[in-house]
Amino acid sequence: MTQPLLKVTDLKTQFRTKWGLVKAVDGVSFHVKHGETFGIVGESGSGKSVTSLSIMRLIPQPAGRIVSGAIELDGLNLLELSEKEMRDYRGGKIGMILQDPLSSLNPLFTIGSQIIEGLRIHTSLKGRSLKERAIDLLRRVHIPSPAMRMKDWPHLLSGGMRQRVVGAISISCEPELLIADEPTTALDATIQLQYLNLLKRIQKETRLSIIFVTHDLGAVAYLCHRAAVMYAGRIVETATVKDLFDKPAHPYTIGLLNSMQKVEKKADHIESIKGQPPNLKNLPIGCSFAPRCDQVKDICKEKYPEETELGADHLVRCWVVKKEAVKIK
Ligand SMILES: Nc1ncnc2c1ncn2[C@@H]1O[C@H](COP(=O)(O)OP(=O)(O)OP(=O)(O)O)[C@@H](O)[C@H]1O
Ligand code: SF4
Ligand SMILES: [Mg+2]
Repeated sequence: MTQPLLKVTDLKTQFRTKWGLVKAVDGVSFHVKHGETFGIVGESGSGKSVTSLSIMRLIPQPAGRIVSGAIELDGLNLLELSEKEMRDYRGGKIGMILQDPLSSLNPLFTIGSQIIEGLRIHTSLKGRSLKERAIDLLRRVHIPSPAMRMKDWPHLLSGGMRQRVVGAISISCEPELLIADEPTTALDATIQLQYLNLLKRIQKETRLSIIFVTHDLGAVAYLCHRAAVMYAGRIVETATVKDLFDKPAHPYTIGLLNSMQKVEKKADHIESIKGQPPNLKNLPIGCSFAPRCDQVKDICKEKYPEETELGADHLVRCWVVKKEAVKIK
């Protein structure tokens, strides 16, 4: 098997708060292959953004800390790099579209100067070539009249256009890995779709690897090759998108899919998964999903489930694994 581009092993990231220790990411392992789009999906607060920020080593300090684990990019453990070395990786080998992409543009600078600034820091381009490259990037994300748009201030662009500019900046230095944290701001459906299409196009044209973070399984189906389902700071299932939809094995994944199907079918009664996600400061000893699971057994409350391999690229952490395909109601 060829070496994956990114390999995250047993990552643990915690926050010290005045209410106690928050285990935001608690032993997460996954890999991202060259040229694939890998989804991380889960409810709000499940640790998706903290996982992404850990890879970028952008966890707010001193409250937050990566406690243990390894994050290897092309075999190099990012957790062992100095802050200066890591700065070269950010915006260089790793690009990121933050959860709130619209606010990541500086209102005081034109969009052209913001793209050029990144190129100046991370590439050897100079003078005219910088400008030409910036225009080319805007063209690649389908900004009309890109040379003219270079002189625009961010507030003159529509929400969808600003998102494309952020997309252009994130790929400007030809990263090997792009981390895209889906915006949760109330974007209208058209802009959401434009955003997904932008990522799809970027991936197709550049063949880079993408980590796509979302709470929306539909977006995962549209964009990703494989995905991990996160629950309470841990990954409970990882599979190809086909297996995740055809043969979901974890009761939480099955619950998410059932809810999604009902939304799509516009059912009268949309049943969300009963109960609330657990408090990350006080996780149950066994399976974190046990209080909400309709298949819970005694062992589930005593021991956190071991990982079961259901097939190539299909891993699940559940004591009651379904080996046969599960029909989504
Ligand atoms: N700076 C922080 N200080 C304290 N706790 C934090 C901090 N950032 C995140 N957390 C906690 O870590 C947990 C995981 O948060 P995270 O932002 O990763 O969730 P998420 O899955 O990205 O959710 P969403 O879908 O809402 O973006 C949450 O319980 C959150 O409260
Ligand atoms: S381990 Fe037990 S409680 Fe947890 S998801 Fe599986 S069946 Fe449900
Ligand atoms: Mg988030």
